[in-house]
Amino acid sequence: MFDPNCVRFFDTTLRDGEQAAGVNLNVAEKLQIAKQLEKTRVDVIEAGFPAASPGDFNCVQAISRELRRTTVCGLARTREGDIRAAAQALAQAENPRLHVFIATSPIHMEYKLRLTQEEVLAEIRSGVSLARSLVSEVEFSGEDASRSDLEFLIKAFKVAVDCGATILNIPDTVGYATPEEFYQFCRTVILGVAPPEGVIFSVHAHNDLGLAAANSLAAVRAGVRQVEGTINGMGERGGNSAIEEVVMALKTRADYYGVTVNLDTRRLFPVSRLVARLSGVAVPPNKPVVGSNAFAHEAGIHQHGVMAKRETYEIMKAEDVGCIPAVMVLGKHSGSHAFRARLEFLGYHLDDASVAKAFEIFKKLCDEKKEATDGDIEAIIADEIFSVTPEFHYELKEYTVQVGSGLATAAVVLYRDNKELKDAATGNGPVDAAYRAIMRVINIEPKLESFKITATSERSDALGEALVIISYQGLKAQGRGASTDVIKASVKAYINAVNRLYSLAAVREIKLNGNGCPKADES
Ligand code: KIV
Ligand code: ZN
Repeated sequence: MFDPNCVRFFDTTLRDGEQAAGVNLNVAEKLQIAKQLEKTRVDVIEAGFPAASPGDFNCVQAISRELRRTTVCGLARTREGDIRAAAQALAQAENPRLHVFIATSPIHMEYKLRLTQEEVLAEIRSGVSLARSLVSEVEFSGEDASRSDLEFLIKAFKVAVDCGATILNIPDTVGYATPEEFYQFCRTVILGVAPPEGVIFSVHAHNDLGLAAANSLAAVRAGVRQVEGTINGMGERGGNSAIEEVVMALKTRADYYGVTVNLDTRRLFPVSRLVARLSGVAVPPNKPVVGSNAFAHEAGIHQHGVMAKRETYEIMKAEDVGCIPAVMVLGKHSGSHAFRARLEFLGYHLDDASVAKAFEIFKKLCDEKKEATDGDIEAIIADEIFSVTPEFHYELKEYTVQVGSGLATAAVVLYRDNKELKDAATGNGPVDAAYRAIMRVINIEPKLESFKITATSERSDALGEALVIISYQGLKAQGRGASTDVIKASVKAYINAVNRLYSLAAVREIKLNGNGCPKADES
């Protein structure tokens, strides 16, 4: 039932969010995030841009098959090929939506599209009509709307409505708008288009000036009833509007905004943690709503105030965004039921085989360190369940490192296709030496773009979690690895990144050339 007072949330973490530099999620990871977003009750999930790559197509198709309640959306330009690919990928969705876009600003039309206004209108006519003939719900976006000529944008939206679009999106593509101005802009567009009942306006704000949430809220005040954004504000450049910020502003200041939302805010913390872990983009501690310090009070005067009356310094309750301290730590004697229940509490949806595999690894870990924290369990899942790349698989069998004064030596043994491959190298430290040895085994030399190690908790027996990004032949891949031994975590992360690099190359049909590294020994 159409409720004109309800603000819907459109999550594009898996499409626009994934465009963030260095982020590359595989199908299993995207599916896990999509399931958790469904549980969070976002209204729409933009699962990808099916014409962009076979990998994107497969993700949209897999998510369409799996989700039964949330609307699944696929992005397309106005081109026929894009629209047919998106419709095909969405074919099995219970509630599909096709999102058609074309730029409407003078700068984009002249320099990027090389199209006149009339030609852009013709593209909208043909694209939206075709989309509507294939899928029951169509959204239209005028890319760079905030820098478009108002009169032309209104004309473009009217054409889209005439051809069957029922959601009209106003993107601030380059994060250029300011709240007061954007309020007026959206108001003028809404009044100018004056669409029939059932058609809603949407906003899609980027955060280049740190104004994405403020602009989204200004648009809601102007009458917009769908907000697009990503979890943790993930996205390219300054990112997208952070869903958790906008929804909590609407809820906390319901007295001012006077709108309702469907989203279950108690799922915000778990979904934020999942996205951060799987994407490798950490949440800053001072991030509103989901940062680790969002509910921490350091100053004595604040602590005193909060103890006397929470509302003195807290405008939201930690439990309302799902920020609940761990109630139990699992250990050696915990059974599979407790383990499964903890996974569910953390928001994971795994099949029986994956739970059994994770439980076995958890048990081994408890032999090493007695107890496992939530962070340890999440690292196990990310490392051992989602990181597995079926298309191409190097596996670590063993490694050794020796560190002397100034020089380290490493030897690695990997498996591939049941064959053992081994090699050794020297380097500036144990990780450098191990990576050089791996490069000799794989016979390519990817560039290491980034290397980070974090601990899964504050405890000294925490797992070390390594995250690396490598690049080779224009492709970028990230890899994760977790272990109580940080060198092992680093080695696993590098191998994982190499596997993902090969998967990506396979999907994009790119052959990775060996670059003349001496071949490893095979035995
Ligand atoms: O930022 C943008 O304009 C987009 C569109 C495709 C909606 O992401
Ligand atoms: Zn965008």
